[in-house]
Amino acid sequence: MADTRPLTFVCLASYFKGSAFLQAAKRLGCTVILIAKEAFAQEAWPRDSLDEVYFMPDLSRRPDILYAVSYLARSHVIDQVIALDDYDVETAAALRDHLRLPGMGESLARHFRDKLAMRLQARVGGVLVPEFTGVFNYDQLRAFLERVPPPWVLKPRSEASSMGIKKLNAAGELWPLLEALGDQQSFFVLEQFIPGDVFHVDGLADAGEMLFQQAHQYGQPPMSIYQQGGIFLTRALDRQSPQAQMLFSLNRQVQSALGMRRGATHTEFIRAHADSRLYFLETAARVGGANIAEAVQYATGIDLWAEWAGIEAAYLRGEPYALPEMRDGYAGVINCLARQEWPDLGAYDDREVVWRLKKKHHAGLIVASPDSARVEQLLKAYAERFAQDFLAVMPPLDKAPA
Ligand SMILES: Nc1ncnc2c1ncn2[C@@H]1O[C@H](COP(=O)(O)OP(=O)(O)O)[C@@H](O)[C@H]1O
Ligand SMILES: [Mg+2]
Repeated sequence: MADTRPLTFVCLASYFKGSAFLQAAKRLGCTVILIAKEAFAQEAWPRDSLDEVYFMPDLSRRPDILYAVSYLARSHVIDQVIALDDYDVETAAALRDHLRLPGMGESLARHFRDKLAMRLQARVGGVLVPEFTGVFNYDQLRAFLERVPPPWVLKPRSEASSMGIKKLNAAGELWPLLEALGDQQSFFVLEQFIPGDVFHVDGLADAGEMLFQQAHQYGQPPMSIYQQGGIFLTRALDRQSPQAQMLFSLNRQVQSALGMRRGATHTEFIRAHADSRLYFLETAARVGGANIAEAVQYATGIDLWAEWAGIEAAYLRGEPYALPEMRDGYAGVINCLARQEWPDLGAYDDREVVWRLKKKHHAGLIVASPDSARVEQLLKAYAERFAQDFLAVMPPLDKAPA
């Protein structure tokens, strides 16, 4: 007889995000258990969609999380562990390995969290990547510095939001940095800095195929925004354009080389100013941050979080998953730190403005249109106005706040 008990998802959230996944899982009839980081206990979690909620100070601490989830397993048949935040991807994988659940285990999850692992694996799959090396053997590091022209970047293998990335212009700059890092140095990767424009493809995978993809171009490269401040901007590219088509096919190649089976993906590429070729920058097994999910939804009607829940549930039930019909639309996001505590966005009243950010000392909005050129034009004009009306600048962080 078929197993008719509802599916049980344990969802990990080291950040306040993923509400749409939790709500969708509940709508699909799943039992939804959330384990979130204590620091976010007061946030507006969708409590109506949660069967149980637990807060822990640090979700990545072992063996605490293994004990906690195994304890839950005494009274629940856990079907899947879901990582809502990037920092939860390895933890969820370790839990799957421990509980013998399907989906990404620890070594596969590395391809989506560890920038050195994803570089190596993508290169093996024939994808163009910046020259890079692990920080292990000093003879190899010296050879890299001789072979590959500067500038270079030294970056943490598993951080996000450009945190801890250092740009180097001369070989002599590397050694004091490594000295200062001490035992942490092997957790970094050294690579060639490729000046260029940064793109991202956000998508959904099922059965090892990309079912949905939307290609975007950032305004300025994320590193300059995070480290020097400025206006963050990203917009969807015309799906029919050669650039978008190229990004779709490259992303397919990356995901297949890295072993993505199902779920949401966010992948970044650099188009080099020097030769216009696209280099694989990084990927993640999650929904893109910075309101990209909202933009994709306003553009296409596809809710990446909700469809991800649908893909997981269908797989576990042994049912086929079908993507809902999508609109051929476009959207873009603009935001910045604001001088004002609650900036007034009232003057940004074009009918394409579909969403406004409500966050202290931030100004931000989403524009959507069936026409990608209209999105581009509006955001360009808004960027100039944001610089005048709101923009404030703050010093960068080297690490995620605890
Ligand atoms: N090899 C590189 N060449 C040029 N820019 C880079 C390179 N690596 C990183 N950057 C810049 O730093 C940003 C962050 O790097 P990334 O590898 O995407 O890490 P994360 O987004 O996880 O912090 C990129 O968006 C890009 O602006
Ligand atoms: Mg990035």
